[in-house]
Amino acid sequence: MRVAVFSTQPHDRTYLDAANRDRFELCYFEPRLNEATAPLAAGFEAVCVFVHDELRAPVCQRLADCGVRCVALRCAGFNNVDVRAAHEAGLVVSRVPAYSPHAVAEHTVGLILTLSRKFHRAYARVREQNFRLEGLLGFELRGKTVGIVGTGRIGTVVAQILAGFGCRLLAFDPQPNETCRALNVRYVELPELLADSEIITLHCPLTPESHHLIDADAFARMRDGVVLINTSRGGLIDTRAAIEALKRRKLGALGLDVYEEEADLFYADLSDQVIQDDVFARLLTFPNVLITAHQAFFTHEALTQIAETTIANLAAMARGEPIRENLVTPELVRG
Ligand code: NAI
Repeated sequence: MRVAVFSTQPHDRTYLDAANRDRFELCYFEPRLNEATAPLAAGFEAVCVFVHDELRAPVCQRLADCGVRCVALRCAGFNNVDVRAAHEAGLVVSRVPAYSPHAVAEHTVGLILTLSRKFHRAYARVREQNFRLEGLLGFELRGKTVGIVGTGRIGTVVAQILAGFGCRLLAFDPQPNETCRALNVRYVELPELLADSEIITLHCPLTPESHHLIDADAFARMRDGVVLINTSRGGLIDTRAAIEALKRRKLGALGLDVYEEEADLFYADLSDQVIQDDVFARLLTFPNVLITAHQAFFTHEALTQIAETTIANLAAMARGEPIRENLVTPELVRG
């Protein structure tokens, strides 16, 4: 089977080639998949895509018209796929639902610790030979109330790590789990979590229902000086509302690995360019905002698992026996 791999970065080639062991003919394309680039898939039976590839209805139809039958997402989230349109176009879509949740969970805790102890500022200051402590006063995690929104694979590991720090844990999830309950995580409704938490971290998927879950109303419910972390998907937060909350000091710190308009920014070297996104540019000006460019998944362990599962998904789809738990279907979207 010939596979067109879109949004290729150097590490994709390294890990996919290692997992593939010459089973499939993998052709690597740097561009993102969208309406303009979909014709590149002509002559391929499968495409392999990542978080910024856009599989809206016209692209799904275009792929099907080109002869593509299989779509292998090399990520967990599938908010960039019109699942119904893909299904109607006859495309079989798979993803990597579970790969080292520790990669994202540890990155999340790294953002919390960096913001609570101001490592990002200390690092820059010491390199300038400024060894003063003023402005670097931190706070301890022990005893703090942390609200976890979404306690699936990643949220559960975050809870396990933060339990070790001695945090008091609240969670909101329509499907509570026993592992978290055993850690003394207290499940509450979202408004209570927003009102009581000193740190809030988001680990639910982006869906039409969760879009802008954290908006101006949500900020109004939060405690003054709250720390907000998002390593899930950018669209969960209304960024303009976050900027207002930062200006009013409602938000004490903001740690982001994702941003709602990240597709035009992340994974490119724009260091010589003028950023045209004024909202993002404003975010960069706050000393208490820490942004990483969608790298929470980016560990050796996670990339190895992602590549192995992606190749296994392609093999199963090629046989016409897709791995059921890795399929992205309209039923999965409906829950
Ligand atoms: P999961 O499917 O194991 O867990 C998601 C949990 O969220 C489930 O327990 C579900 O019941 C809950 N949920 C659904 N809607 C909710 C809502 N409106 N409010 C609260 N909870 C809700 O997913 P997993 O593996 O834990 O991943 C979570 C998210 O992390 C993914 O959807 C993805 O967007 C993001 N992610 C980010 C990565 C990064 O590199 N920054 C890498 C991998 C995933």
